[in-house]
Amino acid sequence: MTEPDIKKGLAGVVVDTTAISKVNPETNSLLYRGYPVQELAATQPFEAVAYLLWHGELPDAAQLAALRATEREHRALSENVRAAIDLVPLEAHPMDEVRTAVSLIGASDPHAGGSVLDAGGSPEQNLERAIRLFAALPAIVAYGQRRRRGEQPIEPRDDLDYSANFLWMTFGEDPDPVVVDAFNRSMILYAEHSFNASTFTARVITSTLSDLYSAVVGAIGALKGPLHGGANEAVLHIFDEIGEASNVVPWLDEALAEKRKIMGFGHRVYKSGDSRVPTMKAALDTLVAHYDKPEVAELYDALESEFVARKGIYPNLDYPSGPAYNLIGFDTLTFTPLFVAARVTGWTAHVIEQAGANALIRPLSFYDGPDERHVES
Ligand code: ACO
Repeated sequence: MTEPDIKKGLAGVVVDTTAISKVNPETNSLLYRGYPVQELAATQPFEAVAYLLWHGELPDAAQLAALRATEREHRALSENVRAAIDLVPLEAHPMDEVRTAVSLIGASDPHAGGSVLDAGGSPEQNLERAIRLFAALPAIVAYGQRRRRGEQPIEPRDDLDYSANFLWMTFGEDPDPVVVDAFNRSMILYAEHSFNASTFTARVITSTLSDLYSAVVGAIGALKGPLHGGANEAVLHIFDEIGEASNVVPWLDEALAEKRKIMGFGHRVYKSGDSRVPTMKAALDTLVAHYDKPEVAELYDALESEFVARKGIYPNLDYPSGPAYNLIGFDTLTFTPLFVAARVTGWTAHVIEQAGANALIRPLSFYDGPDERHVES
C-alpha cells in the first residue's frame, strides 16, 4: 500500500469549525468572537473577556457584576485542595500541582455524577464548572508560589476584582494599578488561540463524552511542554543565561551552532509575527518603566533583532510575557501556571462548543511496522 499524504503534527489540517476565535496569519490578527484581541486587552477586564468567550457577547454591567459575584464565591480553596497540593513534592513542577488541584476539584464536584454516562454534563453545568475553575485557579497558582517560598497562604479579598485579587493572593500587598493593568492584559492575550495543542487536547477528551474537568486536566498536561506553554518559563532561563544585551551575539552564535531552539520565537500558525506580541510588548515596556529596569528592555530588543535578522523567525507571546511576569515578581516556575489560569477560559469555551456539536475525534494512521508474522511454536 502506498503511503497516503500524511500531515505530520496535523500541520495545515482543518479539523472542525469554531466560532470562538479566529487566527489570521496573513494579517497577523486574532479575533475573539469577532473582537480584535488588542482592543479587548486595552479596554476590558479579564472577567468580561471570559464572559465573551463563554457566551459569545461582551457582558452588560449587570451580567459582569453577576459573573464577578460568582467568581468571588469560588475563589477560596477548600482544605482538601490545599492538602492535595501539599502532597505534591516541592521539587515537582508547579504544573503538576495545578493539574492535581484541578483533578481534585473535579472529583469533588457534587454534580459530576458517579456514572460515566452523566460525565459530560449540560451546557449550564459546564459553564458552572468553567467558572468554578476560572475562580479557583488564581488561588491554586498563588498558593503554589507561596508554598515554594515557604510563605503562608493569603486569603482572597472581596473588594478586589480578578486581576488585582490574583496579585494580592500571590504577594500579599496592595497591587499598583499599573501592574494590575499589565497583568490583566496578559491574561486576556493568553485566554484563547483556536486549535492549539492544549485546546485540541481538551476537545479530543470532550469528544469521548468525558467531563470538563478531565478535559482541562489533559489540556494542562499538553500546555506544560516547552514547545507550547512551557516556553514562557524557558524564555527567562535564556535571559538568565545571556545576562545582558552585550552578550547576545556570542550567546546566539553558540546556541545556533548547537542547533538549539530559541524559546519564545516561532509559531506554527504565525510565520511573520504573533498578533499578540505588540500588545504584550507595550505592557512589558510599561512595567520596565514602572520598575525602572531598562536593562530588561535592552536585552529583549537585542535578542529579538539579532535572532530575527539571522533566522527570520519572530517572537511569540511567551517572549514578552516571560520578562513581564518576572518583573511583576512571579517565580519563573509560576509562569506556565499563569498561562493555565488565563487559558482555562478558552479551553472551557471549546469544551462547551465541542460538546454542543460533537463527533468523536479519532484520526487514522499509516502502519509502517513489521509485516504480518506469527509466534513460533
Ligand atoms: N529557534 C530556532 N529555530 C527555530 C525556532 C526557534 N524558536 N522555531 C522554528 N525554528 C526553525 C526550526 O528549527 C526549523 O528549521 P529547519 O527547517 O531548518 O529544521 C524551522 O524553523 C521550522 O520549525 P518547526 O519547529 O518545524 O516549526 P513548527 O511550526 O513545528 O514549530 C514551534 C512551531 C514549535 C512553536 C517552534 O517555532 C518552536 O519550537 N519554538 C520555540 C518554542 C516556543 O516558543 N513555543 C511557544 C509557542 S506559542 C505559545 O505557546 C504562546
